[in-house]
Amino acid sequence: MNEFHRPDGRLHVESVSLERIAADVGTPFYCYSTAMLESRYRALEEALAGLPATICFAVKANGNIAVVGTLARLGAGADVVSAGELTRALVAGIPASRIVFSGVGKTDDEMAAALDAGVMQINVESEVELEALSRVAEARGVTAPAAVRVNPDVDARTHEKITTGRRENKFGIDWGRVPGVFAAAAALPAVALTGVAVHIGSQLTDLEPFRHAFRRIRGLVTDLRAQGHRIDSVDVGGGLGIDYGDPADGGNGPPSAADYADVVRQEAGGLDCRLLLEPGRYLAGNAGVLITRVVYVKEGETRRFLIVDAAMNDLLRPALYGAYHGIEPVGDIAGGDVGEYDVVGPVCETGDTFATRRPLPRVEPGALLCVHAAGAYGAVMASTYNARPLVPEVLVKGDAYAVVRRRVAVEEELALESFPDWLAAPGAEKKVS
Ligand code: LLP
Repeated sequence: MNEFHRPDGRLHVESVSLERIAADVGTPFYCYSTAMLESRYRALEEALAGLPATICFAVKANGNIAVVGTLARLGAGADVVSAGELTRALVAGIPASRIVFSGVGKTDDEMAAALDAGVMQINVESEVELEALSRVAEARGVTAPAAVRVNPDVDARTHEKITTGRRENKFGIDWGRVPGVFAAAAALPAVALTGVAVHIGSQLTDLEPFRHAFRRIRGLVTDLRAQGHRIDSVDVGGGLGIDYGDPADGGNGPPSAADYADVVRQEAGGLDCRLLLEPGRYLAGNAGVLITRVVYVKEGETRRFLIVDAAMNDLLRPALYGAYHGIEPVGDIAGGDVGEYDVVGPVCETGDTFATRRPLPRVEPGALLCVHAAGAYGAVMASTYNARPLVPEVLVKGDAYAVVRRRVAVEEELALESFPDWLAAPGAEKKVS
């Protein structure tokens, strides 16, 4: 289901005109569709029917409490990787009993926060972290529910910056060492190690790497049980890719939730284990867009630039990964000519480019552009580079919309800073002389 459509020629989200939202909140802004979040969640839930599975939304993909809250009301759990994400998930209404805490560098304070909240499971990624967890749990008089994140040494065949399951990556414990870790954990006073977890990367568009990784996990579960360990949960991570509209993909869409769930069922079903899934992008990616306004149309020597008011600080993916995002004007495009444009932001770096030589309907300064598939790893990766405050986020539901994160004024940013004693504030200096 696509909730970004043109009922009267102009782009709407569900029943709300994006032009109307832009007039109200200004640009740039992120906009999310409740119906799309819900339909993605339900599609995955249906695909997993019959399995003892919990869908733990990867909060790193989109931590806005209204987005997480929308999924919470559908019964989602959460995958969190910091104390901040844990707080967000809890505030959004996800019960601690459905939260898994992952991440390669949890501090003692973060482990303590997770234990105090009573999370379902803490995934440990090294022997030293397991010892730290036991120490923190013992000091609090509790037993930590833990799983080992396994590094299965499988190539996810995705962008190198977001591949996580190869031996040379920092993630997980090499699968060959996992039995030894379980044996050692038995001697630790305050951890109950009863699960295994795997996550090999993000934006996977091929199911075979998942199959390899899950098969390795299944083998491990069998071996660990044969060695007398109790294993009652298998966390298959996230990673399912989405459609970014890139013509270079040759029209080959990403796998469907049903095909992905079949792989989960075939490889990890029937193990008599609770299954955890940690999808982020699949649930939120296509449910969100970034709306920006064309400031100038600049005729360069060899290129025509659309200089827009959003930039790499608002949506980093094109600059960081060379990622493709579909872009289209919000206004009526019927019958217009097509031109070739570089869509660029105002930040002082050449990398601040959303699209290169992109065929687009001709637009004038002031036109609104919609950057698609920005609901995951969009707002969460924003920064204030070039002293550009974070932009608003808007959530649409049917014919209603709400600003779920307001625009930050530069004065609010400045209020966080101060002059040290040895630097007179500009106003104070005048009084002295
Ligand atoms: N679980 C773990 C342990 C993870 O590290 C991740 C993502 C996920 C689940 C969720 O993966 P997903 O279902 O969203 O693929 N900033 C990058 C993506 C980084 C993903 C990091 N880990 C991007 O914009 O493409």
